Amino acid sequence: MIVENKIVLITGASKGIGKAIAELFAKEGARLVLTGRDVDGLNKLKNSLPIHAEEHLTYEMDVTKIASIKKVFDSLNSQKIFIDCLVNNAGIMKDATLQMIKPEIIEEIYSTNVYGTILPSQFALKPLIRKRGGSIINVSSIIGTNGNLGQSIYGSSKAAIIGLTKSLSKELSGLNIRVNAIAPGFIDTDMTKGMDEKFYEKNLKSIGMRRLGQPEDVAKVALFLASDLSSYVTGQIIGVDGGMII
Ligand code: NAI
Repeated sequence: MIVENKIVLITGASKGIGKAIAELFAKEGARLVLTGRDVDGLNKLKNSLPIHAEEHLTYEMDVTKIASIKKVFDSLNSQKIFIDCLVNNAGIMKDATLQMIKPEIIEEIYSTNVYGTILPSQFALKPLIRKRGGSIINVSSIIGTNGNLGQSIYGSSKAAIIGLTKSLSKELSGLNIRVNAIAPGFIDTDMTKGMDEKFYEKNLKSIGMRRLGQPEDVAKVALFLASDLSSYVTGQIIGVDGGMII
């Protein structure tokens, strides 16, 4: 098994891409720390997982709140559970042109996507340093690498994740901690289900492989980045977009 006994903390794990990562990682032998705001959803997921079910943990964790993140890491530390991998998956997308977007929405997007990636990473450093190595996987977006109409704020929040990934990988490579990002294209989750029909069709047509990505397509790349198969890979942004042109 590719990530046997690796302890992996996933943010926003109850649905979509986070859930697919949890399911694949569990199949491949990981011990999971499932975090998110929907504890019932996390527990349901935990009970459906194949291996180590009794060892997977669930925690309520809102990535916009330092106290909430600290509580989780304090609890893990007190149980001497030190993670090997952090998957910064939690994110939100709200679209509007810059002219129209309200300040509170800008704040919400940046708190979740940018601070919500930086803060768990800060807390993860102690256990990763203690383990003398590990992997941080950030979920960016094709909108962060390429930009898109009506997505200045979402796109710039995802571009910030790319900047963070590149600089942090340089800070941590000497400690054997790898930091990489995945830039998914158009993936079939609740995030894209709510999309305007015309926009949805336009996006679909722009995908070379002519199908929406599945959350599992992203999970497979996360698995590679969490595992020793990528032991010499750091500071990279890996697109998972089926040849999407945007
Ligand atoms: P989703 O909406 O199904 O899942 C997002 C998850 O993040 C949910 O579990 C949600 O509760 C959680 N979350 C949101 N705010 C949170 C907070 N403050 N604290 C803790 N958890 C929070 O969407 P999806 O598609 O699974 O998104 C996962 C990641 O993938 C996001 O970062 C998203 O930006 C990114 N992404 C998704 C793409 C897509 O086409 N679906 C494309 C590119 C990137």
